[in-house]
Amino acid sequence: MYEISEIIRCENISKTFIVKKGFFEEPLKIQALKNVNLNINRDEIVGLVGESGSGKSTLAKIILKLLKPDSGRLFFLNSDITNASEKDLSSFRKNIQVIFQDPMASLNPRRRIIDSVSEPLFLQKSPKVSEGLERCERMLLKVGIESKEFYKFPHELSGGQRQRVNIARALVTEPLFIVADEPVSSLDVSIQAEIINLLIDLKRELSFSMLFISHDLRVVRHLSDRVYVIFKGEIVEEGLPTNVFSSPAHPYTKSLLENLFEV
Ligand SMILES: Nc1ncnc2c1ncn2[C@@H]1O[C@H](COP(=O)(O)OP(=O)(O)O)[C@@H](O)[C@H]1O
Ligand SMILES: [Mg+2]
Repeated sequence: MYEISEIIRCENISKTFIVKKGFFEEPLKIQALKNVNLNINRDEIVGLVGESGSGKSTLAKIILKLLKPDSGRLFFLNSDITNASEKDLSSFRKNIQVIFQDPMASLNPRRRIIDSVSEPLFLQKSPKVSEGLERCERMLLKVGIESKEFYKFPHELSGGQRQRVNIARALVTEPLFIVADEPVSSLDVSIQAEIINLLIDLKRELSFSMLFISHDLRVVRHLSDRVYVIFKGEIVEEGLPTNVFSSPAHPYTKSLLENLFEV
């Protein structure tokens, strides 16, 4: 069968937030994204790096179709889904999952681990319960959660373990594509490396595409096949990590690199 190689494409995406202040004050306009072009291919890990407030999460939400852009187009497997209705998005929703920064906030505190992981599977695919549970257990073991933890609650696990559970939850439906928005930023540095290496191993084994978002250049450089640098809502650089970081073209990328060597 003919396989489409491009999973996601953003074309000229712009987004301005209008923040109403006091009654007598002019509303504040924040241009979060300016003409952003970005694409993610099959089996590719694309890094998006930029400082806090540069528009990374806004772009993630637009790609996840949780937020509408003011202008520009979004494509999934070469189909324009910018204005698609929820009904037409079922294949998209099945094939896209997300991992957020705070592993505690994204798990239901009153649900056992195994139930949180099985939720997207049963929502989407309605497999037989026994088959579904088996799949969840296999995925939990794959991400490094032992079977004695399966029936625990999120607060009984460490931050790193909780993020492993979130990764299992994102991958259990075998999506084509995942968005990971600062997935390691709330974790200790030693745990960050474990989670990054886990993502690299899982990607090799299960083959999916990923948009990996971080403000930390080191993390992005380590795992990305290709990177985009975003600065004040604009993509200022794109390319292979070795090229972007060994000979940055944009002053902002240079300053990101300089800051890195100061710490
Ligand atoms: N819902 C919102 N309402 C108003 N302003 C927002 C909203 N979401 C984000 N912003 C603003 O848009 C800019 C980009 O934010 P964000 O995409 O969260 O950046 P990042 O994820 O890179 O830290 C920031 O100035 C932020 O304050
Ligand atoms: Mg963010």
